[in-house]
Amino acid sequence: MNISVIGTGYVGLVSGTCFAETGNVVHCVDVDAKKVERLKNGDIPIYEPGLEVIYSRNLAQGRLKFTTDLKEGIKDAEIIFLALPTPPGEDGSADLSYILNVADELSKIISSYVVIVDKSTVPVGTSKKVTEVLAKNLDSSLFDVVSNPEFLREGVAVQDFLKPERVVIGSTSDKALQKMKRLYEPFVRQGNPIICMDEESAEMTKYAANSFLATKISFMNEIANLCERLGANVDLVRKGMGTDSRIGKRFLFPGVGYGGSCFPKDVQALSKTASEYDYNFQILEAVMDVNAKQKEILAQKISSHFNQNLTDKTIAIWGLAFKPNTDDIREAPALNTIDALLKKGAKLKVYDPEAMDNIERIYGDKLYYAKDPYDTIHEADALAILTEWNVFRTPDLQLLKTKMHEAVIFDGRNVFDVEEMKNLGFQYFSIGRP
Ligand SMILES: NC(=O)c1ccc[n+]([C@@H]2O[C@H](COP(=O)([O-])OP(=O)(O)OC[C@H]3O[C@@H](n4cnc5c(N)ncnc54)[C@H](O)[C@@H]3O)[C@@H](O)[C@H]2O)c1
Repeated sequence: MNISVIGTGYVGLVSGTCFAETGNVVHCVDVDAKKVERLKNGDIPIYEPGLEVIYSRNLAQGRLKFTTDLKEGIKDAEIIFLALPTPPGEDGSADLSYILNVADELSKIISSYVVIVDKSTVPVGTSKKVTEVLAKNLDSSLFDVVSNPEFLREGVAVQDFLKPERVVIGSTSDKALQKMKRLYEPFVRQGNPIICMDEESAEMTKYAANSFLATKISFMNEIANLCERLGANVDLVRKGMGTDSRIGKRFLFPGVGYGGSCFPKDVQALSKTASEYDYNFQILEAVMDVNAKQKEILAQKISSHFNQNLTDKTIAIWGLAFKPNTDDIREAPALNTIDALLKKGAKLKVYDPEAMDNIERIYGDKLYYAKDPYDTIHEADALAILTEWNVFRTPDLQLLKTKMHEAVIFDGRNVFDVEEMKNLGFQYFSIGRP
C-alpha cells in the first residue's frame, strides 16, 4: 500500500519505518525542515533501539521517503496516519490544534478516497471533530476517519510496533476496517488480536490504559513511602503481591514518579474530559498529586541529609531520561530533581548515556556534563540515581567509594542491593526499603 504518516516524531517515525518494513511505500511528512533533511540523509534524530537498521534498509530500498510538502506526501496515499503532538493546553485538556489544522489542510488537497487515521492520543470525540473539519471541503464519499491509538513504549518501540500485543481499530466503516486490517495483518501473525470497535471506545481505550498504568505506579509509590515509615521492604512486598496473577508482576516498581510525554499529559487530559462531563474522576486527581510529590522526593532526601544546606555540595546525577533506553527527557523526574538541587545552591555533575544533548539544551552552563558515570563522582558529596540504565547496575563500587568525597547514594530506582551497600560502607537511601 501507499501510506502517509504526518508527524515524524517518536510515534510517526517508528510507525512509518515499520510499515515500510512490511513492504509498503511510506511517505513521512513533517513541518520541521531540519528533521526532514536529516532523515532524508540517513541520520535519525531520536534514539530508539533497533530503529536504525530497518530505517536504513527501507530508506536505501526506496520504501521510506521524507518531505515537508503535505501535498507531495499524500499523493497516491490509501491511508494517512496523523502522528501529531497533542500536548496539554493551559487547562490540561489535550490541545487538538495540530490535528485539526492538518485535517483542514488535507480537506483542501485530497482528491480520491482515503482513510485518515488518528494515531495520536486524542480525547473521545476527536474522530467526529476531524470528520467535521474534513467535511467542510470534502465529499463524505472521499474519506473515512479511523481511530487507531498507539501503544508502543519508547525504548522498545520497534519491537512493540512489529509485534504488538493488540491493535485497536475504531471505525464504523467496513471499507476502512478492511484496509486497516490488511495493513496490520503482517504484524499479528502469531495470533495477537486486532480489536475492532467504534471510534469513541478506541479513543477511550488508550486513555484508560495509560491512566491505569499511571495509577499502578502512584499506588506502588504510596506503598513504598509507607514501607519506609513502617520498616517494611517494598521489594519483598512487590514480589509477594506480584505473584498474584490478578495483580501481575509488571509496573510494581516504586521510584521517583512517572514522566515522559504520555502518562502525565494523558492522565491530566482524561481527568479534564471527565470534569467537562460533570464527572469527578477522583482516583486520577490522587494519581497526579502523588506523582507530583514523588518527583520531589529524591531532592528532599538529599536536602534533609545535608541539613537543608547544599551551597558547597557537589551532587553527581546518573540518569536523566524519563526511563532507560530513550533520549526523551519530557517530564522526566530528573528535571524536578535538578531544578530543586540547583535552587538550593548545589553543584551538579550529570551523566546519561543518551539524553545529554537534550539536557544541555535546557540547562546550558548550569551543569557539568560528564563523559561517563565515573567522571561525575570525582569529589562528589553524594550520588543520585534517577534512571535505571543497565550501565549503572554493576559499577565498580570500591572505586566509587574512593573517588567520592562522602560515600552516600540516593537511589531513586532501587538499583542496588541494600545489604551489599551496607557491607561496603555506603550510606544508602532508596525508595521504600530500609
Ligand atoms: N511517544 C510515545 O511513546 C507515544 C506512544 C503512544 C502514543 N503517543 C502519542 O502520539 C502522538 C505523537 O507523539 P510523539 O511522541 O511522536 O510526538 P513528537 O513530538 O515526538 O512528534 C510529533 C511530530 O509532529 C511534527 N509536527 C507538528 N506539527 C506538524 C504539522 N502541522 N505537520 C507535520 N508534522 C508536524 C513535529 O515536528 C514532530 O516531529 C501524541 O499524541 C502522543 O501522545 C506517543
